[in-house]
Amino acid sequence: MDLLTTIIMIISSYLIYAQLDNAGKYSALLRTVDVCVKQAQEILATPQMDISGQDIQPEHFDISAENIGFAYEKRKIIDGVTLHIPEHTTTAIVGPSGGGKTTLTSLLSRFWDVDEGKVSLDSRDVREYSMDALMRNYSFVFQRVYLFADTIANNIRFGQPDAPMEKVIDAAKKACCHDFIMQLPDGYDTVIGEGGASLSGGEKQRISIARAIMKDAPIIVLDEATANVDPENEADLMKAIDELTREKTIIMIAHRLKTVRNANQIIVIDGGHIAQQGTHDELMQSDGIYRRFVESRREAASWRL
Ligand SMILES: Nc1ncnc2c1ncn2[C@@H]1O[C@H](COP(=O)(O)OP(=O)(O)OP(=O)(O)O)[C@@H](O)[C@H]1O
Ligand SMILES: [Mg+2]
Repeated sequence: MDLLTTIIMIISSYLIYAQLDNAGKYSALLRTVDVCVKQAQEILATPQMDISGQDIQPEHFDISAENIGFAYEKRKIIDGVTLHIPEHTTTAIVGPSGGGKTTLTSLLSRFWDVDEGKVSLDSRDVREYSMDALMRNYSFVFQRVYLFADTIANNIRFGQPDAPMEKVIDAAKKACCHDFIMQLPDGYDTVIGEGGASLSGGEKQRISIARAIMKDAPIIVLDEATANVDPENEADLMKAIDELTREKTIIMIAHRLKTVRNANQIIVIDGGHIAQQGTHDELMQSDGIYRRFVESRREAASWRL
């Protein structure tokens, strides 16, 4: 090639290369955008729950489920469950892991809507209530507690930012938290880490019980902590739960034999169905999941000693 052609070739090859390089970059970007748009569309297509019911205050707090069914995707998790929870009673839900206990309690408190049948509070379908009107009546204490990166006092008065300090301390005392809070460097003003990292599991759960005591809702939904609480903590925890559940309607996923035994009604859930239902004495008379559950708990208790 002569010199002129060579120079033209070099310049144009740079130009072409720059364009190809751009095309490569943009095509990668386009793929990313495509994935993002798909994800956004999936989120937008999520069916929304209608939470705009009426602002009704129930007079009684009986809860019933009539032939309810529910599936997360295709697999039915709850199928044909009918039950009645009279007000001011304790209902313990027990059963094997994965049987549907958490799902059932979520349906009873309208975390999700049932696919079939209906759940009612005070003989009215829960879907008739607005979400705010319904949730006013419930307090939840979960097994895995979430605490905010804020002071202990604000974590307890969560949802009622104007609540006076005396009320916060009163609730903390009832939930057996006061003593350990006073031992912290700044007492009630101690800031706990994100997720409450600096407290033990039992302490965190007691704080969430103090929060529920402050709310003083007539219905308590409780997922009892399992054996991973040490005996000293356990005694405090039981006291706190007793204080919280006095005179309330209680739905409790129970693991501890003592709480199960004292319940007014025990519902054994297995494979999404009610396998057994009755009081402790009634269920102990038939050979079934419940009796096996009790026997295994007794064995576990003697193992702990
Ligand atoms: N968000 C979800 N999406 C899809 N499937 C789920 C979801 N939550 C639970 N499941 C499935 O539903 C079934 C019942 O789960 P659920 O949590 O109600 O059981 P559980 O009785 O509370 O069990 P555990 O005693 O272990 O807490 C399980 O097979 C579980 O895999
Ligand atoms: Mg569960």
